[in-house]
Amino acid sequence: MIHAEGLTRRFGERIAVENLSLGIGAGEVFGFLGPNGAGKTTTVRMLAGLLAPTTGRALVAGVDVCAEPQRVRSVVGIVTEHPGLYEKLSAWHNLKFYADLYDVKSSETQIEKYLNLLGLWERRCEPVGTFSKGMKQKLAIARALLHEPHVLFLDEPTSGLDPESAKTVRNFIAQLASEKRTIFLCTHNLYEAEQLCSRIGLIKQRLIKVGSPQQLKRELYGRHIIIDLKEPISLSEDWQLPFVRDVQINGRRLLVQLDDPEVQNPVLVQRLVELGAQIQFVREQDRTLEEVYLDLIAQEKP
Ligand SMILES: Nc1ncnc2c1ncn2[C@@H]1O[C@H](COP(=O)(O)OP(=O)(O)OP(=O)(O)O)[C@@H](O)[C@H]1O
Ligand SMILES: [Mg+2]
Repeated sequence: MIHAEGLTRRFGERIAVENLSLGIGAGEVFGFLGPNGAGKTTTVRMLAGLLAPTTGRALVAGVDVCAEPQRVRSVVGIVTEHPGLYEKLSAWHNLKFYADLYDVKSSETQIEKYLNLLGLWERRCEPVGTFSKGMKQKLAIARALLHEPHVLFLDEPTSGLDPESAKTVRNFIAQLASEKRTIFLCTHNLYEAEQLCSRIGLIKQRLIKVGSPQQLKRELYGRHIIIDLKEPISLSEDWQLPFVRDVQINGRRLLVQLDDPEVQNPVLVQRLVELGAQIQFVREQDRTLEEVYLDLIAQEKP
């Protein structure tokens, strides 16, 4: 649904995005992460037909962003960092203005649908200037969806929202994904990325890494099993099983590195029981996306 090849954007001497190649399938929620100034918004603007790439090409929903930026804009929805709503107009009129501008079919039905879905129908007649930040953000999302785009670009959609509003927006994103829309999500909220995204791309001018949160964690850290025993155990040199890559013992806790815990855990547990261990808990050590992010960014040279 999104296919970029060698996408590059310069601003004078500065290279904001360098040689970005990326493929994103239909119905995928793709998380785009990276530090401030990494090139996320610039990438979104290029993919949404709002900014011409300096070099490279991209197809979005089958449309070439360089050749037909106008058409790209009509097949994608975009929610930017600053929604740019008309403060004096009501929520309803904001949407109506936009719907007319973009020739949205059955616009009044669409407006009602999305104001309802985002919980703003009751407030539709009030001027947007009186809305809270979260309400404005929801209205911007409604506006981006009026023409039922297959691809949606969300640039930090929950930034500055209170936990409840952020959750409403996240649930809504999940719902959109279940309708097989492709969602390109820029966020600094790593919890959000982990919850919503099937794959993550990490950018710092260049694309550093792409993969599912689980793939990235395993690639970086391997897999570790935590085994809690009832009593500490002293293991002689020859207890080891050949597949155990590493083991650390800390009191009643063993941390064991394995390649294939699904297959190797039962063998390991049996061996420990034979050696007299009383096992209370066995679980895989979970890494956070935050650890992955910080380590990968730290590895990048400035
Ligand atoms: N219109 C512009 N003119 C000049 N430089 C620009 C312009 N837009 C972006 N840049 C530069 O391009 C780089 C990438 O900016 P961009 O907004 O894409 O970053 P970002 O990853 O979205 O950051 P943030 O997380 O802070 O939103 C920055 O160095 C920025 O100053
Ligand atoms: Mg940005």
